[in-house]
This record gives sequence, structure tokens and C-alpha cells, in this order.
Amino acid sequence: MKKIILNIEKTFGTIPKEQIYAQALKTTACNQSLENGTGKGHDFLGWLHLPSSITKEECSSIQSVAGALRSKCKVVVVIGIGGSYLGAKAVIDALSGAFDTLENQNTTIVYAGHNISEDYLYELSAYLKDKSFGIINISKSGTTTEPALAFRILKKQLEEAVGKTEAQSRIVAVTDKARGALRTLAVKEGYKTYVIPDNVGGRFSVLTPVGLLPIAVAGIDIEQLLAGAIAMEQATASDIPFADNPAEIYAATRNELYKSGKKIEILANFHPKLHYVSEWWKQLYGESEGKEQKGIFTAAVDFTTDLHSMGQWIQEGERSIFETVISVAHPQYKVEIPFDEQDLDGLNFLAGQRVDHVNQMAELGTQQAHVDGGVPNIRIELPELNAYYLGQLLYFFERACGISGYLLDVNPFDQPGVEAYKKNMFKLLNKPGY
Ligand code: PA5
Repeated sequence: MKKIILNIEKTFGTIPKEQIYAQALKTTACNQSLENGTGKGHDFLGWLHLPSSITKEECSSIQSVAGALRSKCKVVVVIGIGGSYLGAKAVIDALSGAFDTLENQNTTIVYAGHNISEDYLYELSAYLKDKSFGIINISKSGTTTEPALAFRILKKQLEEAVGKTEAQSRIVAVTDKARGALRTLAVKEGYKTYVIPDNVGGRFSVLTPVGLLPIAVAGIDIEQLLAGAIAMEQATASDIPFADNPAEIYAATRNELYKSGKKIEILANFHPKLHYVSEWWKQLYGESEGKEQKGIFTAAVDFTTDLHSMGQWIQEGERSIFETVISVAHPQYKVEIPFDEQDLDGLNFLAGQRVDHVNQMAELGTQQAHVDGGVPNIRIELPELNAYYLGQLLYFFERACGISGYLLDVNPFDQPGVEAYKKNMFKLLNKPGY
């Protein structure tokens, strides 16, 4: 099978190749620290070998629970925030039809617990009214406010609609093996549960039941996703030489760019289905590296859409950015541009060509323009957008993130900064103890 391809040549105008390759030893040492468990945050390295260590039985259990939910429910609400929902949404959005609806898909996945908007919850409740629905409630800590609030409201709605016993059979909890309110509730109510391993942090949990269960409910082949991740686990191991190791090269390149003043990394795509892959990536790198007053700021754009908005800034704004483009070599479907007798739009020069050809030329033209404008460009090419290559991509980014955090000399696996707003919010809400 093919691999995703990393190309860093268009960064050499800013940082010479030799400068990046001079980081080879240090970068490999960081990768070895991950594998040996000798670096910062080494209690949270369970994700490293998740793809190759998930057993057939675990996969089958997830597939059979997913099948049971699919057979009972037209809609499944995935409740979770941050690392507890972004991975699932990234994969489901990337691999579902853009216009899949209740009419042509067995089970629709919707999300809750990722905001505290009253209107969102009202509209979701209204949408679920008179539909057969189930809930996957995901929270590692089991105490996060946003998902807990959403679950309280939706559990009540489900119980009122179908009765307590049937509701219990339509709720699955994914949480810590012993601690937290969600575990206590799940035991009390007899929900089917899956465990988030202690040594896997939220943003690295997409290949645990946190991601795999909702992805399987959406009808996506989780075995292919894992097969892709396994291929990348092998391709990024620390005994793979730096020159052949895409995770090490990406980590070293972005850190050299950062040191040269490129403080913002923009992840760009030319396929709107990848929007939430970028959201997942933003969290992965932003939460892992933004600490101790350092770290690349992660941003994302969808092209060509955002070329008509942020394109101006990227081309001519402050030169503190670099761009990483996720490119897809072959689309899934074929649409040819028709000939038009009148040709009032002047597009007959494209007649007979595929729309994707125009998109590819837009991508190439954008790369040339941005590189000319002083924006170094990293390119990651997927042969096509499917579960296998997406599995590769997710694991590639995770591995590179661990290495990159170590190069930056931070603990990539903690997130002390996210507590600040919670303390203030609880104090303002008069929560006991605050
Ligand atoms: O990456 C992380 O650790 C966070 O984004 C968490 O996943 C998020 O805060 C949700 O936490 P929990 O799963 O404990 O509800």
C-alpha cells in the first residue's frame, strides 16, 4: 500500500535543507525518548502503540456495539468536548458524503457537549423529538461541565421518550476505568461502557473507543483506519532513519521555522471535508505545545474558500506564518466541466476537463504565490481520502506532535492552562468549594 508523502522542499528558501538535517540527531533522540518513556509526560504515552496493540476482540466489540446502536437509532448523539469529540468528528466528516441526511444514511451522528449554548441545546432537542436516538457520552475525567450538562438534558429527554430501561440500552459511556461521575453513573444505570486508558490523553485518544466507537457507528471501516495507523506507526519508529522518517522531518522542519520567526502554522486543505481534521490538528498541536510562553500558534483555512478572505493576509500580511497543506491526489468521484454554446462565463477553455484539475491548479498556483510571498510551504499528500490514508495521517500528526513538543522542550502531554477559565466560571456560578 502507498504512504502519505511529506514534501518540505518549499521551506528551503527560509531555512536551508542543511539546517533541518542538522537537527537529525536531536530529533531522533526525541523520538527515542517517546519510545523509551524517558521524556516529559511519560505517563501519557499509551497512544504510541495503540494501533498495533488493539486486539481483534476489542475491535469486534466496538463494531458489535456500534451495530446495535445503528440498528436501534436513526440518530446517535456523540457527547464530548476537545479530545473527546474532535477525532471522531474529523474522521466522520472526512469520510461521509457532504449531503448525507436522514433519508439516505442509516444513522446520522450529531454532537453535543462541545459548547454551552442554550440555543444549540434547544435546537438539538427539537431535532431529536420524534426521532429514535441514542447517546455516546464521552468524558475521560467524567466531570467536564459542557458534556455533563448536555448529557443531563438529553438523558432526561431520552428516558421520557422511550422509558428508562430502553434508554439504558441506547446509552454508551466512554470514560475512565474507575474514577469520575460518569463512571459512577454508568455503573449505577448499567450502561455499556468503554475505558479510556489512563495513559492516553484526550487529544491523543482518537484510536481508542473515544474515536473508534462513533466512527464505527457512522459506518466507517475502523479496521482500515487502524491498518493505516499501523503502517504509520512503523514508518515513524525511531529506528527509521531521519531522512526516511516523515514524523521526524515534519517535527524538525516546523521547529526550525519557528526558531526563524515563523510563529504561526496554518493548516490548509482544498477539500471541505477536511475542515475538522484541521480542527483536530489545531487542538493536538496547540494544546500540546502552547505552554511556558512558547509554541507555534495553530490556525487553519479551507481553500479555495478562504483564499477569498484570509488569502490577502496570507499573501501580504505580517511574515510570521508558514503553511502546511493537506493535499489529496485523487478525488473519489468524477465531474467533467461541460461545453456551453454561449460561453458567457468564458469557461469553454476548460470544457471536458475535470473539476479536480482546476482545484489542483488552484493548489499549485497558491503554493507558488505564497512561497513567492515569503510563506514557507510544507505539503502532505494523501493518495486519496479514505479510512486507510486518514489512519496514516492521524498517527503521523500524533507522532510528530510528541517529537515536536520534545524539540521545543515542553511537556506535550499536559494542559495546565485550560483550568484557568474553569475556576473563574465556577466561582462566578457559586459552585461549592470555589
Ligand atoms: O485533550 C484534552 O485533554 C482535552 O481536550 C480533553 O479531551 C477535554 O477537555 C475533555 O475532557 P474530558 O474527556 O475529561 O471530558
